[in-house]
Amino acid sequence: MSLPPYLQEKIFALLRETPASHLKEARKIVTSRYQSHHKSSFQTQEERLSYLATRLPATYAVASWVLEKIVPHSSNLTSHLDLGTGPGTVFFAVQALFPLIQQNTLLEKDPSLIELGKQLMPLEATPIWQLQDFQHSSSFAPADLVTMSYVLNELEDPSPLILKAWEATKHFLALIEPGTPYGFARLKTAREQLIQQGAFIVAPCTHEASCPMSPQDWCHFKVNIQRPSFHQRIKQGTKGFEEEKFSYLIAAKQPHQRMQTCIIRKPIKGSGHIILDLCEENGLRRQVISKKNGPRYHDARHAEWGDTWDN
Ligand SMILES: C[S@@+](CC[C@H](N)C(=O)[O-])C[C@H]1O[C@@H](n2cnc3c(N)ncnc32)[C@H](O)[C@@H]1O
Repeated sequence: MSLPPYLQEKIFALLRETPASHLKEARKIVTSRYQSHHKSSFQTQEERLSYLATRLPATYAVASWVLEKIVPHSSNLTSHLDLGTGPGTVFFAVQALFPLIQQNTLLEKDPSLIELGKQLMPLEATPIWQLQDFQHSSSFAPADLVTMSYVLNELEDPSPLILKAWEATKHFLALIEPGTPYGFARLKTAREQLIQQGAFIVAPCTHEASCPMSPQDWCHFKVNIQRPSFHQRIKQGTKGFEEEKFSYLIAAKQPHQRMQTCIIRKPIKGSGHIILDLCEENGLRRQVISKKNGPRYHDARHAEWGDTWDN
């Protein structure tokens, strides 16, 4: 997964005036603030630019991976609301995946991030930017698709926001969090809250029964991100790609066809067999598929972490 060329060019242009050493330093400050109290609020422009250079490529890739799951059900989606939009990361993924969505509302409390986001937009894009603190909003204008990406883990109590986001959702609510025990715990609580409100879970869960993950485990997935040159300069490392682990949840207002079974870990490829760890309505299950299974073995060889697996 890589950033669209226009976005790479625009980020590159915004970074040009700032020495890489300043951006590296700003990134360290943002990372240590985030690690100590789960907050990414930016205090300087260099901190915001370091987010564009080192985090936006990953959060864009994750948003694209997650929202692709909604594409098959998207023929009646025309509006989108993104809460805690930052520089508009999710919007770029929505724009690429849902040509029918023409109305995008991007809500963010940091005016300087909004200014940066406006500079990243392609000419033809006309989202509505809302400078607003979502904690102080009693409701949001309804939209077909509502998204929150890397937001819940920053809040003391996300429950009121989840309720308000669900009220504003006409069709789908998509939540994305870091693929950590903490990020997953936030989504697990959100899932219970949404099911109580009558939500249908579309992915990654294959049911609305209680989550079968053991307390020591957490449901997460992974994307590989091609690292733009600015990312390599600021975050260093020699690899051309980076892994981002994430957890996610898609809830719908109406019942939808969904995965029967979800592959919840990287398939283990042995000699002559593949091991798949699966989550399904009856709980967790491990399936071993050997070469003797013929076409099933062929399918299993191509199956990926996060895919559906038909029994
Ligand atoms: C980690 S960033 C994620 C940005 C973007 N969604 C992404 O995935 O790249 C979290 C964003 O939520 C915003 N945010 C946090 N609390 C907020 C609030 N109370 N109202 C509006 N935005 C908020 C922050 O300013 C920040 O831009």
